[in-house]
Amino acid sequence: MERKFSKRISSLSPSPTLALNSKAAELAAGGKKIFNFAVGEPDFPTPQAVVEVAIDSLRRGRTRYGTSGGGRPLREAIAEKLRRDNGLDFAIDEIVCGIGAKEILFHVFLALLNDGDEVLLPAPFWVSYTDQIRAAGAIPVPVMPPASITSQGGDALDFNAIERAVTARTRAIVINSPNNPSGYVLGAAELERLAAFAIKHNLWVISDEIYEYMAFSREHISPLKIQPGLRSRFILVNGLSKGFAMTGWRVGYAAGPKDIMALVKNLESHSSTCIPGFIEDAATFALGQGRTLMAPAIATLDARRKATVNALDGFQFVRPDGAFYVFLDVRPFCDGRSSMFVSGALLEEEGVAVVPGEAFGLPGFIRISYTLGEQDLLAGLERVKAFLRRP
Ligand SMILES: Cc1ncc(COP(=O)(O)O)c(C=O)c1O
Repeated sequence: MERKFSKRISSLSPSPTLALNSKAAELAAGGKKIFNFAVGEPDFPTPQAVVEVAIDSLRRGRTRYGTSGGGRPLREAIAEKLRRDNGLDFAIDEIVCGIGAKEILFHVFLALLNDGDEVLLPAPFWVSYTDQIRAAGAIPVPVMPPASITSQGGDALDFNAIERAVTARTRAIVINSPNNPSGYVLGAAELERLAAFAIKHNLWVISDEIYEYMAFSREHISPLKIQPGLRSRFILVNGLSKGFAMTGWRVGYAAGPKDIMALVKNLESHSSTCIPGFIEDAATFALGQGRTLMAPAIATLDARRKATVNALDGFQFVRPDGAFYVFLDVRPFCDGRSSMFVSGALLEEEGVAVVPGEAFGLPGFIRISYTLGEQDLLAGLERVKAFLRRP
């Protein structure tokens, strides 16, 4: 039988980190000490108070189908959070919840894009945007950052390059601040330029704000707060994975104009149906508490961030104002080899797992997650430095 599959889905690339992850697991199983700087989640447990709400909710029988796109209490808690933390006003029918920010983003792309539409992705960008956009039949268009991205205080977006990438098919730009993988946080001036650019070219702005609570040395500002004129073309995406250490609970949401949110909600109703009720209850509680719930964990991450920056003194990296990553420029040490190769060698020789820049559309860099305890963090960084400095 001739085996034919979807061309669109067959063209998606498997995660570039998969091979490295399985190699790291194999080495660890063989007894080798692995310094795992490749993780994308905080190493803190979900706050106990949130867990208790979920257990109580289960005991009360919240085990049936819930409301597609999120029950009213959850969407009200999100609307209140957006007012309190971001100074943004969204009605509850402008908010849709789903199974993680990842699913919500996927559904936003499916709802927004037609075949051949182009979406601008300033690099470095989160690994899933490209394949989700392709799966929606559209074309991801990576745009390189300015060379000054690694100079302290340098801009993260190159607006000349972004302007040059616009074509008649461009529909949207995706931004992610605080940024995975580089930790940059966009300032007010860059956000203003971004808003003016989107309005000039009649583009949607999809703003992935999932690392919002991890903005340490620069305030997180939502682009819509800077430019209310974006309202009709702006979709905010966020979730509880990072800010509340709830990666496994799978709660994400989008806020945007009612017409597109109705389409996203429709997709939710035909795919995952709903967020489980007991998880909704826990998420509603967490959102009501806000960032104070995680203040000690966030302070710990900030201390690790500072320790990482100190340890890497003399190396070039993007200024890590937020998230929990440092994006280290390894080009001076690559000697013509790829950062993918360098990451593989770092794992083999030093037992240090990192994610190569190729995964984020920017080769020549490695992403270091500083979600390890301080002792392992510093020991692992010493290994990275020794490895890079070795001739
Ligand atoms: C930038 C960014 N956006 C979205 C997500 C998806 O988060 P989740 O699906 O866990 O809500 C992640 C997860 O790593 C991320 O780093």
